[in-house]
Amino acid sequence: MKNFNKADYKICIVGLGYVGLPLAARFSLKGFNVTGFDIKEERINQLLNKTDINNDISDTNLEILVNNSKLTSNIDEIKQSNIFIITVPTPINEDKTPDLEPIKASSKLVGNIIKKGSIVIYESTVYPGVTDEICTPILEEKSGLIFNKEFSTGYSPERIVPGDKINTIEKIKKVVSASNEKTLEIISSLYSSIIEAGIHEAPSIKVAEAAKVTENIQRDVNIALINEMHQLFTSLDIPTKDVIEAASTKWNFMKLSPGLVGGHCISIDPYYLMHKSLMSGYTPNLMRTARKINDEMDQWVLNDFINYINSKNLDLSNTKVTVLGYTFKENCSDTRNTKVKNLLISMRNKNIKFQLWDPLITEEDHLELNKLGIETIKLEPKETNIVMICVNHNQFNSFLENYNGILYDFKHRHSS
Ligand SMILES: NC(=O)c1ccc[n+]([C@@H]2O[C@H](COP(=O)([O-])OP(=O)(O)OC[C@H]3O[C@@H](n4cnc5c(N)ncnc54)[C@H](O)[C@@H]3O)[C@@H](O)[C@H]2O)c1
Repeated sequence: MKNFNKADYKICIVGLGYVGLPLAARFSLKGFNVTGFDIKEERINQLLNKTDINNDISDTNLEILVNNSKLTSNIDEIKQSNIFIITVPTPINEDKTPDLEPIKASSKLVGNIIKKGSIVIYESTVYPGVTDEICTPILEEKSGLIFNKEFSTGYSPERIVPGDKINTIEKIKKVVSASNEKTLEIISSLYSSIIEAGIHEAPSIKVAEAAKVTENIQRDVNIALINEMHQLFTSLDIPTKDVIEAASTKWNFMKLSPGLVGGHCISIDPYYLMHKSLMSGYTPNLMRTARKINDEMDQWVLNDFINYINSKNLDLSNTKVTVLGYTFKENCSDTRNTKVKNLLISMRNKNIKFQLWDPLITEEDHLELNKLGIETIKLEPKETNIVMICVNHNQFNSFLENYNGILYDFKHRHSS
């Protein structure tokens, strides 16, 4: 954009979690006037003490952010901002419908303070229509300003992957969209200043919203297919890993492995689009079936584990199993929506004796698990003769190299 001047923009990032913190740090590193806002005072205090429990950005970038920007949970300190970027959670309710409360609450909060000329950009993952049909009316009502005349909106989905230290925010192409042409130019220039991989301008906010859920649903569906294949190949005693190795020699084969699909993106986002789909009268079939397969994978793992133990003529009633890994994926400390939790609860309900070892989980995770009656250990087990791998962190390598007992790894399961 011609005449783009950094000094004209006071950016406020609303929600400093996995998405908001790296974004705030990146704008700060590039010399923008940034304020990071989070309703959770404890999170702000930790960050001010230069601690990020998510371990998501480098110490240097956290230091730059803390020294050069304001981090606050005081709304008065963000009133001067003219660009608001909303990165709050978009979870699901018990009944698996979208829980839009955080995004509505943050829209109310921002709507109460925006002034003429402000731009509100949403980065949270939503179904198409949430920005235009739910958030914008809240902003209009709370601010009393005229949409697209006195304030405008944008949507730019975040595509970072938790725990991925290679594909970091600046290296991932950013999809941007806006409620009008002039705002799109500003938003593109803002993100172009921080993203090395470049910008893709989507023709509308709804397209950008739909693109994000499509990316994640495509992954969910393809993993479900591999999970189904794995269940079949296990029953046929064909090693899935070898099948995947052979099939992936074809140039257009998508190489995925079976897994317990958890986390707060792939296991959640399909429910957002399915909700929108049902509202519009279209019944989604494939994505619903895929979700069901992935959602029930932990039960298949449990049954398969019991079959495996029986095939070895072992008696689970007089031995203690050591379960390796609890987080939702390998080498990542995030435990949100981990499917291992369901698996462990089922094991507990079946009176299988076990202990869990995951060096990446926090003290709070230990306490929560212990409250559920699940025994956790913090160091390598001394004596164990049945090990069940659920999430294979690199930290287990040296233990597994020296371990000679029974090893059950649901991903690499066949009888020999
Ligand atoms: N984590 C990822 O890798 C990732 C990747 C792509 C997209 N997303 C999407 O980005 C969004 C945010 O995800 P996240 O992982 O950063 O969540 P998170 O839970 O790590 O962080 C969200 C932060 O927002 C704060 N918050 C909640 N309500 C607020 C409010 N009303 N005002 C201000 N702050 C508020 C919370 O205290 C928390 O610190 C979600 O929609 C998610 O689906 C996440």
